[in-house]
Amino acid sequence: MTSLSGKTVLLVIGGGIAAYKCLELIRLLKQREARVRTIMTRAAEEFVTPLSVASLTGEKVHTALFSLTDEIEMGHIELSRAADLLVVAPATADLMAKMAHGLADDLASTALLATDKPVLIAPAMNVRMWTHAATQRNLETLRRDDIAVIGPNDGEMACGEYGPGRMAEPAEILAAIEAKLRPAARPLAGRKVLITAGPTREAIDPVRYISNHSSGKQGYAIAAAAVALGAETVLVSGPVSLPIPPGVQMIPVESAAQMLAACESELPCDIAIFAAAVADWRVAQVAGEKIKKSEGRIPALAMVENPDILATVAKRRDKRPAIVVGFAAETSDVVNQARAKLASKGCDLIVANDVSTASGVFGGDRNKVHIVSPAGVEIWPDMPKQEVARKLMDLLASRLPPRAKAAE
Ligand code: C5P
Repeated sequence: MTSLSGKTVLLVIGGGIAAYKCLELIRLLKQREARVRTIMTRAAEEFVTPLSVASLTGEKVHTALFSLTDEIEMGHIELSRAADLLVVAPATADLMAKMAHGLADDLASTALLATDKPVLIAPAMNVRMWTHAATQRNLETLRRDDIAVIGPNDGEMACGEYGPGRMAEPAEILAAIEAKLRPAARPLAGRKVLITAGPTREAIDPVRYISNHSSGKQGYAIAAAAVALGAETVLVSGPVSLPIPPGVQMIPVESAAQMLAACESELPCDIAIFAAAVADWRVAQVAGEKIKKSEGRIPALAMVENPDILATVAKRRDKRPAIVVGFAAETSDVVNQARAKLASKGCDLIVANDVSTASGVFGGDRNKVHIVSPAGVEIWPDMPKQEVARKLMDLLASRLPPRAKAAE
């Protein structure tokens, strides 16, 4: 986790329904030990209470421009000067317009005009307001003024419409803040990481399939950790019921063949991590119609081998990622099996784990892994899957050759 200790964020909370997400953003910033000072516009107070904001930040909330004590103690200029970064979330159409035109008629807009510090805005508004020529013109102006913009995302809106206008998620805004305040904490900025996760589903007929118990939790956690280090992150995922981590581009697939095709279309990349539990076999002939159950007749399913996605990518002559990582889910003799797999699959590192039923790894939130590479074997203690993901991404970032950028 990036520490933001010693850094001060001045959060300007605008008046929009997305203001409630600021509470989570403040929590995330405080978790990273940042100091969070806040200004709320008058409209923002209609959506979240200054009391909630003050409780989470542990600081006084600044709400009005002309407060005598504030002017004596610090003044609005000091408020913005003392910050390392100003974040406007949600940045409403009105706030963006004020910023673009240099208006200063309340504390928020005055502080934003009075600052010489970097500013990040997270716009949120109705889709029509966002696409309106006036807002787009203001956005252009703000970008020209060197103001960083995160989001908005596409999605369902509080007003019932669908489209761009949803404020970026708190974790996405946090990542953008970290990128501004701690650029060195993003060693994978400009790099691309490809991850497979979840099970595959191999059809027998239109209603039946062969699959496995993979939850996708470890792969999804790795994708989130890759984003946190600044990587462009593509997650090729079999069917799972997990939310897509913010900032991750997810490509949904079902079969192993689809997973391979999706992976190959995402090359070149710098690091590829194959955490999916790919079915080893598929049914040779998928029935076009549901196979009928008839008394005394059990259908014989002829199987054929699936492509090995990891080995196919690891053994490519062109566009081979600089680091290829495989997983070895074994029920016994974990390290020896992993060593053998390292050689047979042609990968650079194997994350080996024990998935015997007693281990509780499948579907669980914790994992105990061995990191097997030609450099030797590292035994990591039992820890949450998120922690395994963070440690793994840190390790891979440190092993990535400096000039192995994603080739053209
Ligand atoms: O051979 P095994 O299934 O134990 O190998 C596990 C590793 O190989 C995992 O990283 C898994 O994602 C990958 N794999 C694959 N394609 C397959 C089978 C396994 O990418 N068809």
